[in-house]
Amino acid sequence: MSIHNQQTKLTIGLFGFGVVGESLYKVLAHTPSLNAQIKKVCIRHPHKKRNAPAELFTTDAALLLNDPEINVIVELIDDPVAAYYIVITALTGGKAVVSANKKLIAENMETLIGLQQQYNVPFLYEAACCASIPVIRNLEEYYDNDLLQGISGIVNGSTNYILTKVTEEKITFATALQQAQAEGFAESNPALDVNGIDAVNKLAILLTHAYGIIVSPSDLIHTGIQNLDENDARFATEKGFDIKLVAKACKQQDGTIAAFVLPQFVAKADQLSTVRNEYNGVVIESSLADKQFFYGKGAGGFPTASAVLSDLSALRYNYRYEYKKLNYQAPASLTTECYLKVCIRFRGILHVPQDRFDSILEWSCNRNHCHVTGILPLSQLTNSDWWKQPGISILLYPDGIFENYEPQRETSDQNLGFVEQLAEAE
Ligand code: HSE
Repeated sequence: MSIHNQQTKLTIGLFGFGVVGESLYKVLAHTPSLNAQIKKVCIRHPHKKRNAPAELFTTDAALLLNDPEINVIVELIDDPVAAYYIVITALTGGKAVVSANKKLIAENMETLIGLQQQYNVPFLYEAACCASIPVIRNLEEYYDNDLLQGISGIVNGSTNYILTKVTEEKITFATALQQAQAEGFAESNPALDVNGIDAVNKLAILLTHAYGIIVSPSDLIHTGIQNLDENDARFATEKGFDIKLVAKACKQQDGTIAAFVLPQFVAKADQLSTVRNEYNGVVIESSLADKQFFYGKGAGGFPTASAVLSDLSALRYNYRYEYKKLNYQAPASLTTECYLKVCIRFRGILHVPQDRFDSILEWSCNRNHCHVTGILPLSQLTNSDWWKQPGISILLYPDGIFENYEPQRETSDQNLGFVEQLAEAE
């Protein structure tokens, strides 16, 4: 579809009337300047009470997808399989599509880019990463790959809400999760938030627009906050840090990118430390401009609807992603050739796999658990899931990524002391 000028009316077929869909409906009713109107809304449950006229609703997707008057499909459902069918059918039918479905987009990026090119249709999804923060369009348009040194983002509102409540109000992780669900921030399957899957889906999308990297999210190193507990929270407080779940992409000197989602200690002076509750924050580091900080609501009905609205508005001037960085002469690639300074908690001294560490800098143990701070090759997190097992938590230190690190393994006194202690315990 080509929407050539500001006069063209956007006639919208909306899929989903949940928190975001209903917010969009309300917002559009008060945005006449957009010249956009929802013609039909496709829903799954026809008997649920809706705050809109009954004649607006249908359960028949074909009614929207086959209507020649509808020139934009807005997809806001949380079923990625149904969403895939809707988006593919709409694009191949020549309709513009706006979606907030990060899982669908991250897992099918290559196909979706191909369809946009083949059918010459725009597919916009600013709401899929950090909701109200315009991060995708900025990475796409403003930051040249060569200048972009790194991205560090709190991109999942639910886990940030949970970490804030656990730290500040000293409530349990489970209670905080229930509150996040009640507020409507969490996914319908909250394990997607808690286990870092939502965050890694967003990181995969950001990597495409930042560096032209297309990667399956499941191939990126990631974990969430599922194994953190009050011992980690106490340890962080003692060190003067906050804990945040951070999605990171760091450019190395050879141009390769180290990328992962891990819980992280954040120093109080770091901008990410100011990001509380369901807010998101993204620090973009550029070689010339130093750091820029984007901050805003990363979840919830109106914040997400605001990004959808901005995409609809962009369609009015025929905006589409060009994916320019995919066509760079030397596209960036991912690397695991670097080292991390991490704190890992294990159930007890006998469970510490000290051979995974290059060196151990500090450790403390009691009868129940052991905190070990050490240097770990990033590649140690790719070859098995030992660090994700129940009872084990991992936290990256601030400035804890080293590219030019000299391995110490054979010489570290700290390691030797640790191994001796271990032998005694055995
Ligand atoms: N569950 C997501 C979050 C919603 O908590 O960030 C916004 O993508």
